[in-house]
Amino acid sequence: MNDFNHLPVMVDEIVSFLIVQKDGSYIDLTAGLGGHLKAFSRHLSKDAKLFGTDRDRAALKIAKERLADCPQQIQVAEAPYSTLDKILPEFSVSSFDGILLDLGLSSLQIDDATRGFSFQEDGPLDMRFDPQLSGRMAADLLNESTERELSDIFFTYGEEKQARRIAKAIVMERQMSALETTTQLKKIIDSVIFPHHQKKALARIFQSIRIALNGELDELKAVLPKLVPLLNKSGRIAVLSYHSLEDRIIKRFFQQMHKGCVCPTDFAVCICGIDPSFKILTKKALTPTDEEIKANPRARSAKLRVAEKL
Ligand SMILES: C[S@@+](CC[C@H](N)C(=O)[O-])C[C@H]1O[C@@H](n2cnc3c(N)ncnc32)[C@H](O)[C@@H]1O
Repeated sequence: MNDFNHLPVMVDEIVSFLIVQKDGSYIDLTAGLGGHLKAFSRHLSKDAKLFGTDRDRAALKIAKERLADCPQQIQVAEAPYSTLDKILPEFSVSSFDGILLDLGLSSLQIDDATRGFSFQEDGPLDMRFDPQLSGRMAADLLNESTERELSDIFFTYGEEKQARRIAKAIVMERQMSALETTTQLKKIIDSVIFPHHQKKALARIFQSIRIALNGELDELKAVLPKLVPLLNKSGRIAVLSYHSLEDRIIKRFFQQMHKGCVCPTDFAVCICGIDPSFKILTKKALTPTDEEIKANPRARSAKLRVAEKL
């Protein structure tokens, strides 16, 4: 794999928000191909420490190669980021000055047709972030779920209005032959959606299957509260998301951490005693510049939110 297609998203903005201490400890929980970590390395002293986690073994292998010439100590671990608290003893630090979550897919996953993430290429309906760890593939989800379950997945995780029609067409088709390839799924979607809506519907359906299969939103909800005690005072957390379902979770979490108190709004005085733990540094989510989107169209839906630990 060359890294021609791999450009880390909003890297300048992330570096300028996140790198608060030149010799600090930084982690990209979605290390992918190591693009952001490599950029961090360039802005840090050689005494800094860099860490990464990812569920994708193939990506981590490339990341390790790309980071091999960085002067800092670097450690990566193959694990879902929601288990960070459990794998932390493997790392040489127990807290961080900067934490990055860059959600979504890496270019390796999108460009490799055999991973099954892209409707533009023919490939097996796989879509697992961690093919070596989890057994269930997108094909299993599509062949085994009820029509109602499929429709709920398409509507909830893809916000697709034609969810029911598409689910019905899949269930009819699979009675003749099981779904195995991305092309089969694409043909079914194309057969029930008007041509000028097809591309958007395909993107939404593929996204929804991927989110459901990999439990993406549950992973995100599980990890966010675990990160608060792992951030040093004045340390920062940056989250890059690529669709509104993720962005909503991050926005609400940051707001809650900024507010602290969890008492019902009609309580005259606070009895929970929970102090605010975050200062929000991005009142509105930041988006990539037009130049970045031109150079890297995959960045177009990115939203960046950053908060600082109090
Ligand atoms: C957009 S890419 C990250 C790119 C990376 N920041 C870079 O600069 O190369 C997202 C990565 O997150 C990983 N990922 C998705 N869900 C994950 C999870 N729950 N735990 C760990 N890694 C995850 C994917 O495997 C993918 O490699």
